[in-house]
Amino acid sequence: MILKAAVLGHPVLRARAEPVEAKDLRKPALKRLIEDMADTLFEYNGVGLAAPQVHASLRLFLALESADGMDEEDGPSAGAKAKLRVIANPEFYELSKEMEEGPEGCLSVPRLRGLVPRHTSLIIRGLDGDGRPLELAASGFFARVLQHEADHLDGLVYLDRMKDLRSLAFTSEL
Ligand code: NI
Repeated sequence: MILKAAVLGHPVLRARAEPVEAKDLRKPALKRLIEDMADTLFEYNGVGLAAPQVHASLRLFLALESADGMDEEDGPSAGAKAKLRVIANPEFYELSKEMEEGPEGCLSVPRLRGLVPRHTSLIIRGLDGDGRPLELAASGFFARVLQHEADHLDGLVYLDRMKDLRSLAFTSEL
């Protein structure tokens, strides 16, 4: 089922989301939510979607692990092979000192793009979609997606991370 996206102004996007229990990830309610989030992600051709964006204040997100050349609103480039990752209770480790600015969009901030500085590499630990411990090393675009989605769990959107709002632009103008 395709879920309605919360857009900027809805308080759920500014709340700190609640941790998820491993056992709950094995129950039908969260299985259903994850399935619906995946439907929603693909419907909007996205590369990531956090639970608060569909009005569920939980520390849970989906992210496509794949090639460069996509963003949350634009989706994977044609032919890109992507693996859908379900990550709950994410924590970052070994964040690179190096930061890189890159364009980001967000389903909750429709039609806009802006340049956002992000760590270029990191390790993420949390739980997978079945409640098992998960650890991934990420760099480049995937690392960017993970940081963008994890921010949603702390009530942040990419606009909060921008150093210069002058790079903000409507996609129709890009
Ligand atoms: Ni977003």
